Amino acid sequence: MSTKFSGQDILLLAIEDGLKGDAQSFELRIRKFASKVKEDYPLFAQKIGSSLSEFGILRSVSSKENLLPSPVEPDTRQQLLIEKFPVTLQREPNWSENIQRKVERFLRERLKVEELLNEQLLPSRSLLMSGPPGTGKTLTANWVARELGLPLLTLDLATVMSSYLGKTGNNIKAVLNYASSFPCVLLLDEFDAIAKKRDDETDVGELKRLVTVLLQSIDDWPLSSVLIAATNHGELLDPAIWRRFDSVVEFDFPDSEQVKNYVISWDISEVVAEWLSAGIDNTSIAIIEKKLLEAKKDAILEGSSIVLSLKEALALPGLPNDPDIRREVAYELHLKGWAKIKIAEEIGVTRQRVSSLIKEQAVLNQRELQGKLNYG
Ligand SMILES: Nc1ncnc2c1ncn2[C@@H]1O[C@H](COP(=O)(O)OP(=O)(O)O)[C@@H](O)[C@H]1O
Ligand SMILES: [Mg+2]
Repeated sequence: MSTKFSGQDILLLAIEDGLKGDAQSFELRIRKFASKVKEDYPLFAQKIGSSLSEFGILRSVSSKENLLPSPVEPDTRQQLLIEKFPVTLQREPNWSENIQRKVERFLRERLKVEELLNEQLLPSRSLLMSGPPGTGKTLTANWVARELGLPLLTLDLATVMSSYLGKTGNNIKAVLNYASSFPCVLLLDEFDAIAKKRDDETDVGELKRLVTVLLQSIDDWPLSSVLIAATNHGELLDPAIWRRFDSVVEFDFPDSEQVKNYVISWDISEVVAEWLSAGIDNTSIAIIEKKLLEAKKDAILEGSSIVLSLKEALALPGLPNDPDIRREVAYELHLKGWAKIKIAEEIGVTRQRVSSLIKEQAVLNQRELQGKLNYG
């Protein structure tokens, strides 16, 4: 007589896991079991679902009173973490295609946690970002927290590592405990500060214990929270640490395509963006952003053109021979009240040419405006 019902094999394996004390594997199998029997026994599956959400890996902290207090440095009583909620961004991140793909993939896994678990697949919990300063690592951590609608908790490891190690270890433990007790994104910034400590004449045994604690918490990190580590010196990190993270994204200085897109996001015309991107190399977006701000201010304070100010700010040799750019500059200077003869000198064309450039730009602007009105 056959008594086999759907999901029987999974249930047997789950029992084994349960007896062996492997809670995670047990839960994944039970999830799978529930999805198998859902069609025939919807109420039963629903009951399994509710115990999973009460006791399983995705259980949420039910009330604010259950929350641990935000950890403080015991002597100074200073907060160890900076907490941000809701997270807002002043500017959307501008990534290379490769980085965008990886970051969005990480996010998609987080948004489909339940679906993945139901197929016995573990979604990514941790993300390591490395790369030069000012390339968008901290910005990306903020973006992830905002997209997930979770609070962002930031621990600056360079700061906690400055106190003596025994104390540091306790502080880091307190932070990890706190951040794994409710759904959030924990950013361990300046992650290499731990590795750097190795050069100093510190207690090697103590440091080893600290690294072990950290590695263990990366392994045990709960699915309800996201752990992000960021470092400007990935080369200082042990390969054992790299391997521990579910996802790794390596940032770099932007290539010219990325610079161009970034500059365009500042309302700068495509021809100008193209020219600038050709002249910028091995420069972080943070620095480009600074130069753009400086140039925008200069253009206002000195009554000059944004293109000319950019040329100054970025120390570029001269205006390119592009007629479109010259037309833009001529028109802008004209609007700022420059005499045609002065404009002619500045951009190296005749006075007559300045007059026609200004007229051409006015016609183009008129057309663009008409286009906008027609197509909303
Ligand atoms: N990829 C990027 N896209 C958009 N803005 C960026 C990017 N990278 C850096 N920036 C700008 O520079 C600032 C500093 O970048 P940040 O994320 O702190 O760099 P990192 O953490 O890699 O040192 C950001 O707040 C943002 O204004
Ligand atoms: Mg940073």
